[in-house]
Amino acid sequence: MLAIIALISAGCATKTKHEWLTFFFDGVPPLEKQLGKQQVLTADKKAGGTTSESYYIPLHKPLVRTYEHNPYSKRNCKSCHESKFSQKLLGKTIDVCMKCHSKLLKDKKNKHDPVAEGECLECHEPHKADNKNLLKRKGAKLCYECHDDEVTEAKFKHDPAADGSCAECHNPHASNNKNLLIRTGKALCYECHEDEVTEAKFKHDPVDEGECSECHDPHKSKNKYLLKKAGDALCYECHDQDDISENKAHEPSKVAAKSCIGCHDPHKSENKYLLKQL
Ligand code: HEC
Ligand code: HEC
Ligand code: HEC
Ligand code: HEC
Ligand code: HEC
Ligand code: HEC
Ligand code: HEC
Ligand code: HEC
Ligand code: HEC
Repeated sequence: MLAIIALISAGCATKTKHEWLTFFFDGVPPLEKQLGKQQVLTADKKAGGTTSESYYIPLHKPLVRTYEHNPYSKRNCKSCHESKFSQKLLGKTIDVCMKCHSKLLKDKKNKHDPVAEGECLECHEPHKADNKNLLKRKGAKLCYECHDDEVTEAKFKHDPAADGSCAECHNPHASNNKNLLIRTGKALCYECHEDEVTEAKFKHDPVDEGECSECHDPHKSKNKYLLKKAGDALCYECHDQDDISENKAHEPSKVAAKSCIGCHDPHKSENKYLLKQL
């Protein structure tokens, strides 16, 4: 046993060493005391109580909050390791995690690649972390370890993608929807945007069908309003140019002067043909 402790202690900073020792032995004095930087306050002084219980105010309070994993803070080392003194896991990482977190993947068709590979530790710390949910990195940085960051440098960015709220739209583990989306179609977008379409008299087909991503990129774009194509080219993705020009309303000079959304609303209208004005 001593050998193991020596092994853990070797090369560790005092603070780390202390952390492990307190886990192995009860009654290890607080670090502050060991370092001789102790401050004691009695409960009487603080709250007017009668007990003589003392507690410590750490002098080097961590600047960031640490989040501990429940079984780790309960010193339930054996729920994952072969013993309290062995680093060896009871089995493959994912099998160990699934003992308690099987709900996470239950009945889910599509698994995120690293999850399917059992690599929970690509994203999570097993014991404790500075970030919520035991995450190794914050926000989008976590994702950009493996995915290209196409957002930061883009001209127009979608707010939730830019601020790293990827999990507002994607489940990082698994989903029954394509692209690990937590909701599909317009329901995904209407979580944050007002639905002005459902109640409208005339609705543009792809908007009504919830195909918002046909026209908008959900992450970023070089065009305003996150449009996948600028100007009339967006409309010609689906409408045939020859058909459009056949209609008398579409005199080339008028179309050139106003562009499609000069006369039509791209989403909905109270007027026929999605006209902004009759
Ligand atoms: C939720 C599961 C879990 C619990 C509970 C847990 N560990 Fe671990 N521990 C791990 C995993 C996973 C690793 C990383 C193993 C790897 O990288 O192969 C690890 C690594 C370690 C290591 C190697 C050094 C390091 O920090 O990476 C030590 C030492 C260790 N654990 C000690 C403990 C002790 C002591 C406890 C109880 C206080 C404990 N563990 C509780 C899962 C757990
Ligand atoms: C012995 C049971 C157990 C095992 C094994 C276990 N966990 Fe947990 N885990 C818990 C409990 C209990 C919580 C507290 C939250 C809850 O009630 O779900 C938790 C919470 C978490 C959280 C959320 C942390 C937070 O701040 O809310 C993450 C992430 C997590 N576990 C990852 C893992 C990973 C990764 C593994 C495998 C290395 C693992 N767990 C193994 C019991 C376990
Ligand atoms: C690609 C990164 C990634 C991988 C791989 C990953 N997670 Fe997570 N996990 C996250 C993120 C991000 C969150 C926070 C989600 C949120 O903010 O809603 C999270 C949250 C959690 C939570 C707490 C919240 C919840 O959804 O219950 C648990 C438990 C958890 N993960 C366990 C695991 C386990 C077990 C594995 C391995 C099977 C794993 N994770 C693999 C990124 C990952
Ligand atoms: C450890 C590497 C890794 C990390 C970290 C990671 N991913 Fe992935 N992700 C992959 C791989 C590999 C694929 C599959 C290949 C591909 O589509 O690029 C994938 C695929 C995806 C897909 C497409 C899934 C599908 O069904 O086509 C989405 C969406 C995704 N990841 C989102 C995220 C988000 C959001 C995060 C951060 C919370 C994240 N990823 C972090 C490795 C990672
Ligand atoms: C507003 C919702 C939303 C947010 C926020 C979001 N995504 Fe997506 N993401 C989507 C949608 C919708 C798709 C599917 C696009 C499609 O169908 O063309 C997608 C597709 C993806 C894909 C797979 C296809 C591709 O473009 O490579 C990856 C990977 C991905 N997202 C990563 C991320 C990461 C990383 C973040 C955080 C920086 C993020 N997403 C934030 C909605 C979102
Ligand atoms: C998590 C919340 C959230 C979700 C989900 C979301 N958005 Fe957004 N979106 C925002 C915020 C915040 C802004 C910036 C403020 C604003 O302009 O309303 C924004 C802006 C936009 C803009 C640009 C508006 C402008 O004035 O430049 C478009 C277009 C857009 N979102 C489309 C979508 C689409 C399409 C979806 C579904 C794939 C979606 N959003 C899902 C939060 C969200
Ligand atoms: C046929 C293409 C198309 C589809 C499909 C589409 N949009 Fe748009 N959207 C546009 C165009 C074009 C603009 C720019 C309008 C302008 O310049 O006045 C726009 C603007 C926006 C804006 C910013 C301005 C505003 O009206 O608030 C938001 C938000 C938005 N769309 C959300 C959505 C959502 C959510 C969906 C799906 C329910 C969707 N769009 C589907 C073409 C489309
Ligand atoms: C993703 C495919 C798609 C895109 C992109 C698209 N449309 Fe449409 N549009 C349709 C479909 C499908 C219909 C319904 C079938 C039809 O009338 O052709 C439709 C119908 C229309 C109608 C007729 C509505 C009615 O009441 O008869 C107008 C006007 C229209 N679109 C204008 C536009 C404009 C302007 C743009 C560019 C901002 C655009 N569309 C982009 C698919 C699209
Ligand atoms: C100057 C105003 C104006 C402009 C610019 C314009 N439209 Fe129209 N559009 C109309 C009017 C008016 C109608 C109704 C015509 C009718 O009553 O037959 C119409 C009808 C339509 C229709 C339904 C009837 C049909 O011909 O299929 C579609 C689709 C359409 N426009 C698409 C477009 C597209 C795509 C553009 C851009 C290339 C565009 N419009 C530009 C005024 C305009």
